[in-house]
Amino acid sequence: MKRARIIGTGSCIPERILTNSDLEEMVDTSDEWIVTRTGIRERHLAAEGEFTSDLATAAARQALAMAGVDPQEIDLIVVGTITGDFPWPATACLVQNNLGIRGCAAFDVSAACSGFVYALDCAVKRIETGASKKALVIGAEILSRIVDWQDRNTCVLFGDGAGAVVLEGQEGDSGVLSTHLHADGSFWELLHQPGFGSRFPASDGGIKDRLPFLKMQGNEVFKVAVRSLHEVAVEAIEANGMSTSDIDLFIPHQANRRILEATAKRLGFSDEQVYINVDRFGNTSGASIPIALDEANRKGMIKEGDIILFDAFGGGFTWASALIRW
Ligand code: UT7
Repeated sequence: MKRARIIGTGSCIPERILTNSDLEEMVDTSDEWIVTRTGIRERHLAAEGEFTSDLATAAARQALAMAGVDPQEIDLIVVGTITGDFPWPATACLVQNNLGIRGCAAFDVSAACSGFVYALDCAVKRIETGASKKALVIGAEILSRIVDWQDRNTCVLFGDGAGAVVLEGQEGDSGVLSTHLHADGSFWELLHQPGFGSRFPASDGGIKDRLPFLKMQGNEVFKVAVRSLHEVAVEAIEANGMSTSDIDLFIPHQANRRILEATAKRLGFSDEQVYINVDRFGNTSGASIPIALDEANRKGMIKEGDIILFDAFGGGFTWASALIRW
């Protein structure tokens, strides 16, 4: 069986920076509150006229360049996003068009902050069965367009960006060793975007009730996130007959520094094993893990044979892991 190996990474971070002091001018908050509760200092926001497919395509082009792969060789594109350009068609189809290619499978995965790991799983399974040979997997979000900028409980948390990987089926021991996906739909209401789908269609109005904006019960999310991130990381480590000390780089979904530190501590990771960039980008949902991976890769922090663990949690609730030998 061929393994799905990551042969290129890329990312795209919008230029505009929104700092905590900028937010102090917009809602009743403070830099001190945001840093203490979340560890976030600034986040990047997409410019007017910049769309999720633009960020996704830019990240994909970087990953393709690193891999030395021509877009024509790609036979699968999967995008993890909850803030695509449109409810449909899929942002993956727009990326395909931007890359100037035709015919290959292209679809989005909706699993909120777990979206990239869910998307990775789909591509890995297709590569392992031989159904696909070279795949682009992307996490891309413009959360700033669904965040309620009047709600201090949520607007301070999120940012925009995209990250991408190129996967290739290769013989050998390197590649994605395991993926584990989970969901519990009984928690849907704790983190969701009410409008506009079949339950609250745009034709009913609802802008005045702020239905198109993200709603979250932060406290409740926090508790389940720490528990689920722990469980799925342990599941991945045990399924591969490893222990925490075998992991060279732990890349958790960058939700909030307190969640990351609590999870890392409970798993027994040292600071050196854990990648954290939430201070600079905020929570970029499905984009956070591939952005962190690309940063670590470009800084030269990853070498051949390293073991990397992705650990994600998001709305749904969904949670997921992927364990990789580089
Ligand atoms: O990818 C998964 C996505 N979601 C998450 O990662 C979120 C997980 N949850 C969290 O990270 C935390 O629950 C938050 C950072 C969202 C909130 O931290 P908390 O320690 O759970 O605070 P809280 O919600 O219990 O609120 C404490 C107080 C409240 O005031 P009162 O009622 O005690 O007077 C809030 O109104 O802090 C207030 N507050 C704020 N104050 C200043 C909430 N947001 C802000 C704010 N600035 N931005």
